[in-house]
Amino acid sequence: MTFSKRHLLGIEPLSPPEITTLLDLADRYAERERTTDKHATALAGMTQINMFFENSTRTQASFEIAGKRLGADVMNMAMQTSSVKKGETLIDTALTLNAMHPDLLVVRHPHSGAVNLLAEKVNCAVLNAGDGRHEHPTQALLDALTIRRRKGRLHRLNIAICGDIAHSRVARSNILLLGKMENRVKLIGPPTLMPAGVADWGVEVYDDMARGLEGADVVMMLRLQRERMDGGFIPSEREYYHRYGLDAEKLACAKEDAIVMHPGPMNRGVEIDGTIADDINRSVIQEQVEMGVAVRMAAMDLLAQNLAAERAAYA
Ligand code: NCD
Repeated sequence: MTFSKRHLLGIEPLSPPEITTLLDLADRYAERERTTDKHATALAGMTQINMFFENSTRTQASFEIAGKRLGADVMNMAMQTSSVKKGETLIDTALTLNAMHPDLLVVRHPHSGAVNLLAEKVNCAVLNAGDGRHEHPTQALLDALTIRRRKGRLHRLNIAICGDIAHSRVARSNILLLGKMENRVKLIGPPTLMPAGVADWGVEVYDDMARGLEGADVVMMLRLQRERMDGGFIPSEREYYHRYGLDAEKLACAKEDAIVMHPGPMNRGVEIDGTIADDINRSVIQEQVEMGVAVRMAAMDLLAQNLAAERAAYA
């Protein structure tokens, strides 16, 4: 088995064979998820705690379902009502939970780097469910699985990532993963929404949708991350939709068989036209959600195997 990590904190430390190992296992779980025999035992006897310090629908639900399908005891911490509200620090909260002997901690936090810090303090496997604008590894992996299933490969594809790149952990993790697998990655968006230093990322940058989408096999749209903006990054939502919102006319610039992706939550009429999002011939948005469960099952399965091996070695 080629997956030697103790935690899943980001795409950055993963090697291409590790990514392939994880996606191959996720593919098998995805097939199983479509049958009536959904339950496996990879996490039997293990405890998974989900700590979401930021709102989430898809990610939290799919980590919970993934854990339950694999037989773990899953607990969702209600962070809004926890002692965090009384001023307890992230590390104190983590140490408290660590004392209850969890095996897997799934953490989402508004600050970039917070999940890595936490991973240093606990003795279980930590999965990053999104930290600030830094990384969201399981999202990039589920996007990769969706692309691989639809396009039959995950290399030498022409992939456009469009919109608010600067504030997006989804974009960052995807750029890292797609780059490692040797794809041509193009970022499209207004210059105000491009991160500083993007010129060193090994990607092409466009501020015009028609030019950027030319020849694209995959069109990935992103939400405007208003919660991470501290000023006026766009003139108005109307103007933004006009220039960067994905409508039929702009999509016609991509390849005829290009697929449309979006991590959700979607703002229809801001970054994407509702009819395109719902067009089952182009949009794979629901399949992304489906693959989310499979990828999280695979990630937790692999980390649990490493954890068990480590514990056996020290027993
Ligand atoms: C993304 C996130 O939280 O980073 N959503 C998700 O996990 N499906 C993207 C977003 O919030 O726009």
